[in-house]
Amino acid sequence: MNSPAMLGLNIQAPAFVKNARLIAWVADMAALCKPARIHWCDGSEAEYNALCEQMVASGTLKRLNPAKRPNSYLAWSDPSDVARVEDRTFICSEKQEDAGPTNNWKAPAEMRATLQPLFDGCMAGRTMYVIPFSMGPLGSHIAQIGVELSDSPYVVTNMKIMTRMGRAVYDVLGVDGEFVPCVHTVGAPLAEGQADVSWPCNPTTKYIVHYPETREIWSYGSGYGGNALLGKKCLALRIASTMGRDQGWLAEHMLILGVTSPEGKKSHVAAAFPSACGKTNFAMLIPPQGLNGWTVTTIGDDIAWIKPHADGKLYAINPEAGYFGVAPGTNTLTNPNCMASLTRDVIFTNVALTDDGDVWWEGMGEAPAHAIDWQGKDWTPQLGKETGAKAAHPNARFTVAATNNPALDPAWDDPAGVPIDAFIFGGRRSTTVPLVTEARTWMEGVYMAATMGSETTAAAFGAQGVVRRDPFAMLPFTGYNMSDYFQHWLDMEHKLESLGHTLPKIFCVNWFRKGADGKFVWPGYGENMRVLKWMLDRIEGKVAGQDNLFGVGPTYEEIEWSGLDFSRAQFDSVTHIDKADWTAELALHSELFTLLAHHLPQELQATKVQIEQRLAAA
Ligand code: GTP
Ligand code: SPV
Ligand code: MN
Repeated sequence: MNSPAMLGLNIQAPAFVKNARLIAWVADMAALCKPARIHWCDGSEAEYNALCEQMVASGTLKRLNPAKRPNSYLAWSDPSDVARVEDRTFICSEKQEDAGPTNNWKAPAEMRATLQPLFDGCMAGRTMYVIPFSMGPLGSHIAQIGVELSDSPYVVTNMKIMTRMGRAVYDVLGVDGEFVPCVHTVGAPLAEGQADVSWPCNPTTKYIVHYPETREIWSYGSGYGGNALLGKKCLALRIASTMGRDQGWLAEHMLILGVTSPEGKKSHVAAAFPSACGKTNFAMLIPPQGLNGWTVTTIGDDIAWIKPHADGKLYAINPEAGYFGVAPGTNTLTNPNCMASLTRDVIFTNVALTDDGDVWWEGMGEAPAHAIDWQGKDWTPQLGKETGAKAAHPNARFTVAATNNPALDPAWDDPAGVPIDAFIFGGRRSTTVPLVTEARTWMEGVYMAATMGSETTAAAFGAQGVVRRDPFAMLPFTGYNMSDYFQHWLDMEHKLESLGHTLPKIFCVNWFRKGADGKFVWPGYGENMRVLKWMLDRIEGKVAGQDNLFGVGPTYEEIEWSGLDFSRAQFDSVTHIDKADWTAELALHSELFTLLAHHLPQELQATKVQIEQRLAAA
């Protein structure tokens, strides 16, 4: 291996970087990746602006019309690089059983041998950016520091929005502080004199690799979202979930919201829905007509770190500082707070460019007469109708700071977190699963979450609309054996009870049941407040609910309908529990439990037997 000095590379760290391990690691990685230069990010506005300028010049970004969308940019990715690549994501623990049957696994030594030649010279002709970031409020006991080395300026600017990124992180790290090393490359080295493309990536080779035991992340070949912004899914979920297992806390794919009643009582709810299944929407919900006086405030929209405190309650923080949210389907009716967040200071990726220099996506509102689609081609509504061509990619996203959200909760960055009163789990199911069910016990709730199914979405590369089991909405994000993860959730009950506290209630929801016409029956979005209110009413004992096969559901009368025309027949169609459907559903639970047999908590199996007996008797 050539030393950095032999490559003519200046590896001298700036004076504000004092961490010996960081400096040594950057030198090692520079020797391996062989970038043309190293840039130590300070996270300043000036740096952000300069990188955006540079990307406008290189064609990676387009500056949007400042009169319409101030300080905002649009990126179009390579068509091979539009979503997370789950089949290229690996958990490389020493033992395969520690990764479990739901994760791709390779022995660490084998994976290192595979990656070594790929990373050798991978940054040739590019800049290696050193990106120091904190997941969680800077310097708080709950935060984790990571340092990402990346050859993508797009990653730097997105990390600036999504995390607490910059110079203050070096200060917190000090001389000997700990950090999670994250190495990222787009996997597109430039030969001498070779011209760059607007979205460099490796169209054929991608690896998203985690070594949970040594807490390292290595990502090769993609510049998109969770593949490349390594603080998010890689650190804050896959690595953090293993930390949580070892240290007695939870890292979850959950939004966190605050909800205040007209009487001024505030509750906090954390909800796990799979990717592109409504977390951002629920976290920013505006209560509809008829539920005036209720308010919802956002703490987080994607990830929650949840810890038991000495008072016996579970407290949640959002480790992120921004939103990387789904654009298609978002409009001023479905999510007005989100649209208000997007008026300025946004990086859009893979939406369409309008003729007046603004953005558009399917479901935003009236289509423009002409636009340039996310692949740079002409698009008209006519063409869309005739060929099905989408102006925006279905997984097109926006990156925006949490502080742009008008409904941001005052405690959103409180290191103490917020006390959780209820957990909600919800998949995308056009049939079978009712609108809302309350688990009668923690055990029943863990069962519901563990066996949750959901139709796949464009958030992951591959087939869409296929029902798969997605336990706790964590299938792609649990950094260890899923059955051990279930056990960890079950253990939480005893841990909290020993502290003498009543546990949060657990609910299961489904906003996505369809009628015979193929349309969603439940109006969703802001109207979900009606279901949230019923859950809060249950917690306070204001409504009795009615027992069903696996929990407690609402009666028609218990839901507040004022301001919404929703008939008893429609209600029945979204709450009905069909015996044949559930017989088939339980067969899928059996399949899941067979797959997860190693270490599967015996109580889950026992709960399933009870449900089967109730179903048989129904
Ligand atoms: P990730 O960021 O991928 O983890 O997703 P998310 O869970 O935050 O998803 P998001 O809230 O961005 O929603 C994704 C899609 O679901 C958007 O197209 C929304 O319009 C749609 N959606 C959200 N809430 C509802 C709802 O209540 N009903 C229906 N029918 N669609 C919804
Ligand atoms: C998800 O897929 O759940 C996301 C988007 O939140 S990404 O960051 O790309 O993983
Ligand atoms: Mn997500």
